[in-house]
Parts: sequence; structure tokens; C-alpha cells
Amino acid sequence: MRFAVISDIHGNYLALEAVLDDISRQGIDQILNLGDHFGGPLEAGKTADILIEQKAMLSIAGNHDRFLLELPPAELGAWDGPAFAQLSQTHLQWIADLPGTAVFEEDVFLCHGIPTTDNSHWLDVPNEKVGMNLRPLADIECDALGFDFSVMLCGHSHVSRLVRLSDGRHVLNPGSVGCPGFKDTRADPYVMHTGNPCAAYAIIEKRKHGWDFTFRHVPYDHMKMAKLALSRGMPDWASALNGGWIS
Ligand SMILES: [Fe+2]
Repeated sequence: MRFAVISDIHGNYLALEAVLDDISRQGIDQILNLGDHFGGPLEAGKTADILIEQKAMLSIAGNHDRFLLELPPAELGAWDGPAFAQLSQTHLQWIADLPGTAVFEEDVFLCHGIPTTDNSHWLDVPNEKVGMNLRPLADIECDALGFDFSVMLCGHSHVSRLVRLSDGRHVLNPGSVGCPGFKDTRADPYVMHTGNPCAAYAIIEKRKHGWDFTFRHVPYDHMKMAKLALSRGMPDWASALNGGWIS
């Protein structure tokens, strides 16, 4: 069993194209996609067109995808409003058909945040100043209670990370395909930046003696997307796409 894991594309179709090309070059057909396909000022419509065409992709919804369906357009924020404006009824129906979680080959569990909600970080805790810290193992294991899968996949934080639980199960976040940094301005504001502008994803293979995990960081024309974000009045997005930092 060998497959690629992608997450948090956030409308960055150029990053998605680069990752799909890289996955193909690795000789991998099966892709698991953990959601937040949309949300942000980039190209939600083009991203949806690409995703709908993918036949060997198992996709679930993220919190931003869910917001697009649940909230009235007037209440969508600076991330989801521009995405919603680009999406057709066909695109919205594709989102509506996505499950919130999924299981692959009986051994791999997919969720966007933690198993019980798409809007919490499983492996990360926001640093009170800047960035994300590794979450305490006891808290990570608490969210894994009752989920008896060898490999459990999550996104949401945009941080590439692998954690092995004390009983040998693994939780992996592949990082973000299209959004290498963001400012969360809600109740407890924080900044997350990865420090590089690459499109991140992971490859997982089940081998004779255990699971093999590879994180990949793929270059693409990130400056084109940074300029697009700036032209659409989103300087934080432009900064993150420019170099992986929120300046
Ligand atoms: Fe996200």
C-alpha cells in the first residue's frame, strides 16, 4: 500500500498542479485529500475544476469547505467570501457530497482537524507569540481514543508533522499544499508561518517492518500567487506565499 496525502489547498491551483505532477512522478495513483480545498483570495473555481476531475482521489471536507455551505454569503469572512464568489452550483454540490471523515483500506483514518471536529488542531498548539508548538502527547492521545487505525491523518494547522502514539499508532499532518502561513485573528489571535513557500504534502507506504513516511516540499510559481493575493487586497496572504513568512 502506497499513497499520497494532501491537505489545505486553499484555492492555490498552481500549488495543487505542482503537487499532482510530483505525485505522478513518484508513480503514485492513490491520493487522500484532507480538505480546506477552498477559503482564501486565490483561485477557488480553477481549484474546484481540477479536483472534480481527479478520479483516484478520496477527499473529505475541511472547516472552510463546510463554512461555504453553512453560512449565508453575507456572513462569510475575508477568506471564504472571495472563494464562494468563484464557485458554481456544480462546485458547491461537489463540496456538499464530501464526507467529514473517511476510512481508507480499513487501516487509515482521514479527518481535517481531530476525529470529532474539523475545527481543532490535533498535533499542534498555537504558540502565544508566533508559530505552532508540538502538542503534549497525552492531549494528542486523548483525541485518538476509540479510533483504532494504524495511521490517522489530519490537516488544519498547515504544519507538516508526524507523531507516534505510545501504542504504536501514528498521526500525520502532511502540511499545506497552498497556504504556508496565516494570521488567525479570532478569539486568541496568533500567527503561523512555515518559513518556506513550497507546496507541502506527504507520501505513506506500508512496508514489511512498518510504515514509511516521507514529507515533500515542492517548488512552483509561488510569486505569481503572491502577486495575485496582493492584487486582491490580502497582504498577509501575499507575504506568506512570497517566502513562507507573515511579515
Ligand atoms: Fe486550512
